[in-house]
Amino acid sequence: MAYKEIYESWQTDPEGFWMKAAGAIDWVKPPSRALNPDHAPLYQWFTDAEVNACWNAVDRHVLAGRGNQLAIIHDSPVTHLRKGITYKELQTRVASLAGALRAKGVEKGDRVIIYMPMIPEALEAMLACARLGAIHSVVFGGFAANELAVRIDDCKPKAIIAASCGIEPNRIVHYKPLLDGAIDIATHKPDFCVIFQREQEVAKLVEGRDVAWHTFQYGVEPADCVPVEGDHPAYILYTSGTTGAPKGVVRHTAGHLVALNWSMRAIYNVGVGDVFWAASDVGWVVGHSYICYGPLIAGCTTVVFEGKPVGTPDAGTFWRVMSENKVKSFFTAPTALRAIRRDDPEGLFIKEYNLKNLQALYLAGERADPDTIQWAQKHLQVPVIDHWWQTETGWAIAANPLGIEELPVKLGSPSVAMPGYDVQVLDEGGHPVSPGTLGAIAIKLPLPPGTLPTLWNAEERFKKSYLTQFPGYYETGDAGYIDADGYLYIMARTDDVINVAGHRLSTGAMEEVLASHPDVAECAVIGVADQLKGQSPLGFVCLKKGAQTSHEDVVKQCVQLMRDKIGPVADFKRALVVERLPKTRSGKILRSTMVKIADGTEWKMPATIDDPVILDEIKTALQGIGLAKA
Ligand code: COA
Ligand code: AMP
Repeated sequence: MAYKEIYESWQTDPEGFWMKAAGAIDWVKPPSRALNPDHAPLYQWFTDAEVNACWNAVDRHVLAGRGNQLAIIHDSPVTHLRKGITYKELQTRVASLAGALRAKGVEKGDRVIIYMPMIPEALEAMLACARLGAIHSVVFGGFAANELAVRIDDCKPKAIIAASCGIEPNRIVHYKPLLDGAIDIATHKPDFCVIFQREQEVAKLVEGRDVAWHTFQYGVEPADCVPVEGDHPAYILYTSGTTGAPKGVVRHTAGHLVALNWSMRAIYNVGVGDVFWAASDVGWVVGHSYICYGPLIAGCTTVVFEGKPVGTPDAGTFWRVMSENKVKSFFTAPTALRAIRRDDPEGLFIKEYNLKNLQALYLAGERADPDTIQWAQKHLQVPVIDHWWQTETGWAIAANPLGIEELPVKLGSPSVAMPGYDVQVLDEGGHPVSPGTLGAIAIKLPLPPGTLPTLWNAEERFKKSYLTQFPGYYETGDAGYIDADGYLYIMARTDDVINVAGHRLSTGAMEEVLASHPDVAECAVIGVADQLKGQSPLGFVCLKKGAQTSHEDVVKQCVQLMRDKIGPVADFKRALVVERLPKTRSGKILRSTMVKIADGTEWKMPATIDDPVILDEIKTALQGIGLAKA
């Protein structure tokens, strides 16, 4: 069947569509219905079913005789290691870890924070939680102790599972001191921490609180899979919102299984025995959906890559991993390709490797610029598929569904809406606009299975952030348009979220950090265009009267403060000290005008501006650091 027919079959009978998709999942108790609209506008899926995510990702493949197939390949250029774990081995390891967690009191519904680098143990920790029905919350390693503490206080974990260290090309990331620091800052204290000691750095354990990964599994009874209700949370994943407090996106178990399984075939065109590689991190949604759960549910081999697109050791790493591991579908962020292209513009490394298994390249996480897509098309000679989604949705809202039909690619567009998503572009009054007209992108409720049903501990915030602006719709926070053929174009965010190297960051959170500097009276953070990373954060600070610190020192301290409070991932390296910030007469800082001036794009003097001269001052300051070119 072609894409159009499939999409229409969902439109005509959404319930039938998702019940059919549910047939591919192993249920303890099958669902009698797909959608549960009882609490609309909050919707749930497969609520009367019972299921276990770990069973579907691991055990069922062993039962089906695929125990000897590789489930995980760990390819780690930063440690010069490459190893495989079969489904049978994974089952044994996960059951043992789950048994040990249970022996220390972790049960269904308990939260467990996972703070680990790109090692198979991170996936094992996630799966061990899923096995018990415990709710995991993975925190990205590039966040500072303070961010980890915020998450500890919000989800109140019974346990934290961490590694002793992570490895960045230029340094060892000392996870353990960060973890200890976070626990010190947090009000909530976990009952215990499990530490996976890596040989690159062995951490000191805190007596009475910390246990070692291997030791604490000694002699424990392996745990079986615990059935959970369809709407039992599988995990919480924090993501950036408008303010400093991150949003805890909740993922329910059954919808997550059904949707991911469907997407593996329909979008990525892979199934049992195929090798799938998403070069992301378990700390992001891509890591949850397409490093851990999606490929394993579908019986693929997933690649856990611990390295960078360039510098580990060179711009040929991605192609080596693909060729040595026979990768069929590959997923990365456009930034990674831009980094590779910068080092190897002619794609010479690509020619050194045999990529005959590669069927397609998928891009997401930020806008894929046509130049980068064309470069990849030219050198790889496979379809390059941009697809659009968010932490909130957990899987693609729009894509070119290769497993259904390869649609013509339109550069700059992530193609068309996937079944389950009725995507509309709305004007400020919430009315659908005509094709080609820019507006806010919204999705008609209900969202499909696998998407967020709410925010952890914050139902009101969920409603306010996503459901209030356009009643009956989910507000994506992205702006763009749909063309006459139904292709979507995602142009910008409508909120204070910026996207740096495929990482979603909140300028609001960064402003809170700058404001905490004792000399800073006022501040603003904007995302300016960056050739490599898409956007790059830039701070503006106005100093308090009588501040004694030199401008240079204030900037240095602000950069350090951001690293300490949010983490290196914020990539905050530049700030300008200015006299005043441009504002409207009602006092709103004109951030979007500042962005346009910085990027050298066309801008209009806002009618509501308080003092136009300030924009000239800002422009001069920007020109001083090589921005705001006419
Ligand atoms: N743990 C600790 N620190 C981390 C980290 C982690 N897991 N990941 C990144 N960092 C740090 C980096 O070391 C760097 O610190 P530095 O300021 O001391 O150098 C900082 O965070 C910024 O990192 P990064 O964004 O990786 O920038 P970079 O300049 O080192 O590398 C790219 C540039 C393009 C190679 C890199 O950004 C990249 O691979 N991007 C793709 C991202 C991606 O796949 N995203 C997927 C989302 S779907
Ligand atoms: P995250 O939740 O970190 O995955 O970030 C989601 C946001 O990244 C989206 O709301 C978009 O702003 C942006 N994004 C993700 N994928 C794409 C894409 N293919 N094209 C344009 N923007 C994208």
